[in-house]
Amino acid sequence: MFFKTLSGRFLLLTIIFVMVAEVFIFVPSVARFRVEYLQQRLELAQLASLALLATPDDMVTPELANELLANAEVLNIVLRRNEMRELILSNPMVEPVSATYDLRDAGPFELIKDAMIALFNNRDEVIRIIGRPVKGAGIEIETTLEIMPLRYAMLEYGRNIFLISLLISVFSSAMLFIAVRRLMVRPIRKLVQNMMDYQQSPEDATRVIKPENRVIELRAAEDTLLDLQTQLTGSLKQKERLAQLGEAVAKISHDLRNILTTTQLLADRIETSTDPTVARIAPKLVSSVDRAINLCEQTLTYGKAEEAPPRPELFLLAGLVEEITDNENLHDDAEKISLRCDFQPGFELSADREQMFRVLGNLMRNARQVMETMPNGGEICIRANHTPSGVQLYVCDTGPGLPEAAKTKLFQPFQGSVRKGGTGLGLAIAAELVRGHGGNLELAETSSEGTCFRIFLPQKH
Ligand SMILES: Nc1ncnc2c1ncn2[C@@H]1O[C@H](COP(=O)(O)OP(=O)(O)O)[C@@H](O)[C@H]1O
Ligand SMILES: [Mg+2]
Repeated sequence: MFFKTLSGRFLLLTIIFVMVAEVFIFVPSVARFRVEYLQQRLELAQLASLALLATPDDMVTPELANELLANAEVLNIVLRRNEMRELILSNPMVEPVSATYDLRDAGPFELIKDAMIALFNNRDEVIRIIGRPVKGAGIEIETTLEIMPLRYAMLEYGRNIFLISLLISVFSSAMLFIAVRRLMVRPIRKLVQNMMDYQQSPEDATRVIKPENRVIELRAAEDTLLDLQTQLTGSLKQKERLAQLGEAVAKISHDLRNILTTTQLLADRIETSTDPTVARIAPKLVSSVDRAINLCEQTLTYGKAEEAPPRPELFLLAGLVEEITDNENLHDDAEKISLRCDFQPGFELSADREQMFRVLGNLMRNARQVMETMPNGGEICIRANHTPSGVQLYVCDTGPGLPEAAKTKLFQPFQGSVRKGGTGLGLAIAAELVRGHGGNLELAETSSEGTCFRIFLPQKH
């Protein structure tokens, strides 16, 4: 669990990285340690040889010879001077030499290879070393020694390096751990805490974040969150206000409708008046009141909560169109407005039938309303066809086309109407219902020859 946190990950990774880096340091430094060790043996051997050369006949007692050799930790010493090889000191029981290493001109890779051999070769062997002593112009020294002490010294050195690296990695990861906690984990936690606080009450402007981090990336996150929260809080307030306004409008519409209904009853009675002036004005009054009541009712319907999600069913388009025709009394206008169904009688679609009733009803009513004003009437044509992803329905008419004012505000509630007594809600509601099906309603074309609306409804196969 701990290693899944940001600081835990950093801790683990730092330990791993430092250890990997130490391996790269370890190999060359062990090789260097070996060279220094051997060089030291050579120097000690040189010192021993100097002690010997100081004697008058270059001879010492066997005890002294052994002591000198033991002191230098070598088995024998050979001096090479002017191409002459001179055995200076020698241990009587010299074992066979298993390998010779020349330190005079060995390259770094050779030294690393030899060091690895020394480290991993666990056999009691004797090796020969050739090297140049310090300040020994023209003199070369050759000596044999046992490999085991060298190996042990190298192992100990390696162990020390390992311990030091462990210490370094623990120390550096601990520092990093603290830094990551302070620089990243804490600010991120603060950010998350703010989001949670804000989420509990987004309308509360005091819960909006106050950017204060000095790290650029975290500051950018805070600034973005600030923008987001400011916008959200703003729109929530606006939404609340609109909801209050909507409620007020609904109440007004409701009361107004009741007042108007009373007025309507009175106006109906005025219509029967014998006074010619009153009788002339009365029908206009009645239709004005009718329109006002219609507006109130439409507003009230629109103000009701969001449309319910569609409950699709499979039904015949012909049946639906028939029902709308009945409902809209299109039969009565038969001599002025004709209806043409340009689709197969068995054309089926899957949608919420009730909602499609309202959508097609609105479009057909609009078409009828504009063509009624035309002296020769016109024709409403319903077309339908299948596409790979759904169905397309067209509601076309031979009317005068959309007025310019309606075109720019089409589908916008309360705005698109240019009709006397219109509310501008019909198309807005129809479009919303179609969108609820995952489809779309659009104006396919409009000209002085007529207008065509297209409905696309996706179908699940
Ligand atoms: N088929 C059509 N032909 C010409 N004008 C149309 C047609 N359908 C709609 N309109 C225009 O678009 C306006 C908005 O229509 P709609 O949203 O149904 O509101 P309303 O019918 O209440 O006015 C209408 O007032 C009308 O002028
Ligand atoms: Mg309408």
